[in-house]
Amino acid sequence: MTDVQSGETEELAPLTNSDEESAGEARAEMLTLRGVKKKYGSFEAVKNLELQVHRGEIFGFLGPNGAGKTTTIRMVAGILRPTSGDILVGGDDLNQEPEKAKSRIGYIPDRPYLYDKLSGGEFLRFVAGLWGREGAEVEARADRLLDLFQLTEWKDELIESYSHGMRQKILISSALIHQPELIVVDEPMVGLDPRSARLLKDLFREFVGHGGTVFLSTHTLEVAEALCDRIAIINHGEVIAFGTMDELRSQAEAGGAHLEEIFLKVTGGEAMSHVIESLREAIEK
Ligand SMILES: Nc1ncnc2c1ncn2[C@@H]1O[C@H](COP(=O)(O)OP(=O)(O)OP(=O)(O)O)[C@@H](O)[C@H]1O
Ligand SMILES: [Mg+2]
Repeated sequence: MTDVQSGETEELAPLTNSDEESAGEARAEMLTLRGVKKKYGSFEAVKNLELQVHRGEIFGFLGPNGAGKTTTIRMVAGILRPTSGDILVGGDDLNQEPEKAKSRIGYIPDRPYLYDKLSGGEFLRFVAGLWGREGAEVEARADRLLDLFQLTEWKDELIESYSHGMRQKILISSALIHQPELIVVDEPMVGLDPRSARLLKDLFREFVGHGGTVFLSTHTLEVAEALCDRIAIINHGEVIAFGTMDELRSQAEAGGAHLEEIFLKVTGGEAMSHVIESLREAIEK
């Protein structure tokens, strides 16, 4: 595995606006969810979610399959409208000022839609154009991102010829092209090779180091444990554990436990370990 050079991701800092920095308290939180609910028919996938994500932190959103992570992330990205509740991005209400709020976000979905008949370079130019950006600045940034992800030689190849990991990398690049303040990402590590997974972790760290914020869902508990400043675990659309790793440990009364044990404990997965245990016994007999 090639080591990622420190400082390699430096140019990916988010845009910071001095006017907005002086706008005070209301903007101290990068992302606020107030009583956010999502119903699909009569089924409540997300129930009265209250969350605050601080500027400059990596916030991990964990939970078992079907817990409501993707639903929440899609509401934050402005793709799905909450049934009720408010979402504020950098102090702007996503419902009342969608363009302003959305321009602060770089969204990396779990199931990407990519234009197969565009080349990687064209796709990045196209996405930048959606944000009203063009010209030399965009070209330089696109080249920098392609270089970071070792996609330079694929710049003019059609996306349909890309491997799964390459598609993931062009998608991540496209989410960063307009210099967002908040990266919202659903399952970022799936399909990435070790170098790229490491690069993405370094990139997130670098990004928050420059004042950016990351809100990510993951099933990779080691990633959450190593990367996230604070974590919320949700189940059945509700937050059931919340805080730093230390706080989660004390909540789960599992001193010194790894996130996996805490996760299994709070999500009722301990029952699973009994199943595994009996399976093991059956095999060993
Ligand atoms: N479009 C939809 N219509 C009806 N139900 C839906 C829809 N999308 C999601 N759901 C349901 O809402 C719940 C939450 O789904 P969601 O995709 O948010 O979970 P998740 O935490 O992202 O799960 P996973 O870890 O499997 O990605 C699930 O019970 C799912 O079946
Ligand atoms: Mg999901």
